[in-house]
Amino acid sequence: MSGMDLSGKVAFVTGSTRGIGRAVAAALHGAGAKVAIVGRDQARAQAVASELGERALGVACDVADRARIDAAIAATEKGLGPVDILVNNAGITRDNLLLRMSEAEWDDVLDANLKGAFHTTQAVLKGMMKRRSGRIINITSIIGITGNKGQANYAASKAGLIGFTKSVAKEYGSRGILVNAVAPGFIETDMTSGLPEDLRQAMLAGIVLGRLGRPEDVAGAVHFLASELSGYITGQVLIVDGGVAV
Ligand code: NAI
Repeated sequence: MSGMDLSGKVAFVTGSTRGIGRAVAAALHGAGAKVAIVGRDQARAQAVASELGERALGVACDVADRARIDAAIAATEKGLGPVDILVNNAGITRDNLLLRMSEAEWDDVLDANLKGAFHTTQAVLKGMMKRRSGRIINITSIIGITGNKGQANYAASKAGLIGFTKSVAKEYGSRGILVNAVAPGFIETDMTSGLPEDLRQAMLAGIVLGRLGRPEDVAGAVHFLASELSGYITGQVLIVDGGVAV
């Protein structure tokens, strides 16, 4: 059995109806895992789960809403079994210069990107502790390390996620729970499709590998961190940016 094989494992991937989350869900499923496709819209989540086929379940929840997360985890456990792998991927941007940023723009981003991970992680931890095993992978961003104009809320949420990752890794490492983060650079998804062409070209110029990232590039890193091959790695941030930060 290959060290990347995930047969028998159950993965809960937030925001997996499109983009990076969807590619992550497909990669874990392709490695044999049972996968919960989690999105805000039940029909959409179900449609993506049906595309994956057997061993996939669509569940609806807003990660900022604890009661709905608990219900989604319960539905996953009933349909697929206890969660072994949690991927906190759901995230949004509400860009604005700080002086113009509304409290709602700040709160929406922090609630989805940071509080969401707090809720989902708390919801799966007890089960993982009982089984003395689990993997938690948080999708942060290089913006959480470098900062970015117009993204004080987003950068704060992603930097917060890195501190969260390291703290939870320390709290639960002795219980066999490994917690890591993946920090993508510029990945081509709906989130980045609206960026102006000149900004795109400027970003491209800074990428050592000479191309923008694909969701699958991030999925490979998450797959590794969910697998046996990364069994001695915890509290780390794996940067997947084609060499921007080199
Ligand atoms: P996307 O916008 O294509 O997909 C985000 C997914 O999260 C969507 O399915 C959306 O419905 C879901 N979502 C958002 N808020 C939610 C909530 N409150 N509850 C449940 N689901 C929610 O974005 P993309 O590009 O696939 O991003 C995925 C993650 O990767 C995000 O956390 C993002 O910050 C991060 N990231 C993306 C980069 C990029 O260049 N695209 C770079 C670095 C990080």
